Amino acid sequence: MICNNLTVSPKGHLRFAGMDAAELLCRFGSPLYLMDEQRIRQNCQTYYNAMKAAFGEAALPLYASKAASFMEVYRIAESEGMGIDVVSCGEIHTAKKAGFPMENAYFHSNNKTDADIAFAMENGVGCFVADHPEEVLAIDAIAAEKGITQKILLRLTPGIDTHTYEAVNTGKVDSKFGSAIETGQAEEITKLALDCKNVRLAGFHCHVGSQVFDSDTFLRSAEIMLKFIAAIRETYGFLAEELDLGGGYGVRYLESDPEIDIAANIYEVAAFVKEQCKALNLPLPAIRMEPGRSIVADAGITLYTVGAVKTIPGYKNYVSVDGGMGDNPRYALYESPYTVVAAEKMNEPCSVLYDVVGRCCESGDVLQPAVSLPASMKRGDIIAVLTTGAYNYSMASNYNRIPRLPIVMIKDGDCRVVVRRETLDDIIGCDL
Ligand code: LLP
Repeated sequence: MICNNLTVSPKGHLRFAGMDAAELLCRFGSPLYLMDEQRIRQNCQTYYNAMKAAFGEAALPLYASKAASFMEVYRIAESEGMGIDVVSCGEIHTAKKAGFPMENAYFHSNNKTDADIAFAMENGVGCFVADHPEEVLAIDAIAAEKGITQKILLRLTPGIDTHTYEAVNTGKVDSKFGSAIETGQAEEITKLALDCKNVRLAGFHCHVGSQVFDSDTFLRSAEIMLKFIAAIRETYGFLAEELDLGGGYGVRYLESDPEIDIAANIYEVAAFVKEQCKALNLPLPAIRMEPGRSIVADAGITLYTVGAVKTIPGYKNYVSVDGGMGDNPRYALYESPYTVVAAEKMNEPCSVLYDVVGRCCESGDVLQPAVSLPASMKRGDIIAVLTTGAYNYSMASNYNRIPRLPIVMIKDGDCRVVVRRETLDDIIGCDL
């Protein structure tokens, strides 16, 4: 199957991280997110070990926690030696409450309010990734009020067009993120940051996109960034000590997706970066990478119970499940592909095409169209959607006032609830 933490038992049941999915659904209720702790750890270790070996001790992977943000995942990231990327007070608060050492947190976002900036400083966030000149000035002013010097990176847009879908494409010149190198704005913001007394410019950041399979994208953006660093040293005498290359490596949602060898890619990027540094006569900066999806995606699956099974003769068949766009909006938003299986019927032939849809009052509430499933699908069957560990829980909503799902973490044959199921009273918790 698409990941080696998925197998099929002799009686045709899906097993995830060594556990029978159907049994876990009985035990923890439906619908349900499952996560495989060992897999998260292995993914962290792949980045950590490869980055340290390829770029040297100063390198550090930052887990981009927008992919899945809850207290336990920050504890796991910390114990694997990772830094984190956070993008909001909510993520900062979650990480802090989980005991994450906030000096290893990098605060992103294209629009940090004064209140966000103050909150992040009060919580000891180590580095801000400043997006635009007004933000640099705001960070400088608030740091002055607090009597601190804030370490910052500047987010630049290298102008790379990745081959992913438009909505997650962030490295282009016309992006809402960062300051473009091509237009001269990157140089201007650098000059500004160097003049600010209460910020310490440590270097630069770029992020070219998400679900990227083409390693050339990372090489080209690294090249543009290093040339910029060399030009800035030439003009201003400022030598960047850090270069953050962002996240973006793709994962397998379908059997037909390629499998990326992350470690090999990191070695390739490192060889290229070192070669460029040599040619530009630059010391190797401390490299950061910010993987999100590739840390948690294949460490998660979602289980649902089938309700209505409908056939519209001559048109299509529907399988409706007890979740949907509230717990996984990615097909509705991006038409993202997923592998969908009948968790207790893994040995039955899949001979019928069904649209697997959710329970929200909206036609767009589709988890996946045209899925091959057994002809015997009926009420009470269990559906598993695979590779849901990234950007599912973190993008979940209470649309239609449907409570959010719990997350059950599996480790060495033990299961623990790390996010409990929302109750109906949670749903009205903010209502006055
Ligand atoms: N660093 C920055 C600055 C980012 O903006 C992102 C993702 C990452 C790192 C992590 O990228 P990853 O390794 O996860 O590809 N909601 C969309 C994905 C949006 C990604 C936004 N930024 C989805 O569900 O596909």
